[in-house]
Amino acid sequence: MKWQELSQKYLMNNTQRMPITLVRGQGARVWDNDGKEYLDFVGGWAVCVLGHCHPVMVNALADQGRVLTQASPNIITPPQIQLAQLLVDNSCFSRVFFQSSGAEANEGAVKLARRYGKLKLNGAYEVITALNSFHGRTLAMTAATGQPHYQEPYQPLPPGFVNVPFDDIRALKKATTAKTCAIMLEPVQGEGGVNIPRDSYLKQVRAWCDEKGILLVLDEVQTGMGRLGSLYGYQLAGIEPDIITLAKGLGNGVPIGAFMCKEACNGFVPGDHGSTYGGNPLMCAVGYAVVKYIIEKDVPGNAKLIGHYLLEGLKQLKEDYPFITDVRGKGLLAAVEFDKDLGQDVMMACLGEGMLVNRVKPNAVRLMPPLIIGRKEVDEALDILGKVLKTVK
Ligand SMILES: Cc1ncc(COP(=O)(O)O)c(C=O)c1O
Repeated sequence: MKWQELSQKYLMNNTQRMPITLVRGQGARVWDNDGKEYLDFVGGWAVCVLGHCHPVMVNALADQGRVLTQASPNIITPPQIQLAQLLVDNSCFSRVFFQSSGAEANEGAVKLARRYGKLKLNGAYEVITALNSFHGRTLAMTAATGQPHYQEPYQPLPPGFVNVPFDDIRALKKATTAKTCAIMLEPVQGEGGVNIPRDSYLKQVRAWCDEKGILLVLDEVQTGMGRLGSLYGYQLAGIEPDIITLAKGLGNGVPIGAFMCKEACNGFVPGDHGSTYGGNPLMCAVGYAVVKYIIEKDVPGNAKLIGHYLLEGLKQLKEDYPFITDVRGKGLLAAVEFDKDLGQDVMMACLGEGMLVNRVKPNAVRLMPPLIIGRKEVDEALDILGKVLKTVK
């Protein structure tokens, strides 16, 4: 069947799709419908932290699928409580709310922050976010996402968001007013191009939030679950946020998101928030198995080790190819930037050579492989990148 032609006929034209159709995945490899194999350094958009079809995930999905797959949001199930307990026991937070995606988790977090603003900050409701951030595609999260090209088609956007430059404490301070209830940031900006702030930045933001009595929300939808080389990015930054949001790696491919908070801002009362699939037993059973494995097998430790090896290899490529202007990364989230708009060409040439990478900006590609990869996969990726870079300039 001609999946590509059919996709053009039946799907909305909302994104520039890759010219391949995936039918199978295993670990860090995927296969298209012609049987071609690809080394997957995109991982379903930084989702498959344990790789594709990891047995831990597949077994949890099958086992729970035979028992109970949905309950109404006002009835608890054991997987939901088990996952909540595991997340709380391995973080600085005391409460969890489950959602089905990253954007929803951020929506929930902003609602919780506004609740706090109403209860404790004289009705303050504004949330300060960063330019080049990415917080999701709902209307409110489009307003939160500091990238004008996502915002323009949907103006007017919901009010209550202010976008300021990232890694700029002065800009945050200047934007803070009596209307501010929270600052929401990614520890490392993912979609914005893998932008890593100075080591002092989040500490300064934390101190500012404490001084003003406002909340710090960290969007760890992409950086959480080990991606940066620790379970959460906030641990690397040496701070504790008031609220965190998660999705992607939390389910390794099943749609689950969550936000967690500290007790001081645990302000919802019955009726304040809800979601039909929030805490769905099928997703939570998978989430529980995935998170347990991540923690028990120190998957973040592997991301740190292999991420370092990857970055060293990328630095060598930068030496070899002067049109690479920057390589940067933390754990297994990395980017290669060029002196002109080669992102698309590099992505497509990698595809031809059997490797998936993501064109994150016109002049940069992003690497976000499963966190279980070893040196062998990194060597293979560096070989393919090296080969491609010879041809694209
Ligand atoms: C940091 C961050 N927040 C939120 C989102 C949105 O998540 P979702 O696409 O699951 O709604 C993403 C997605 O890439 C993200 O990277």
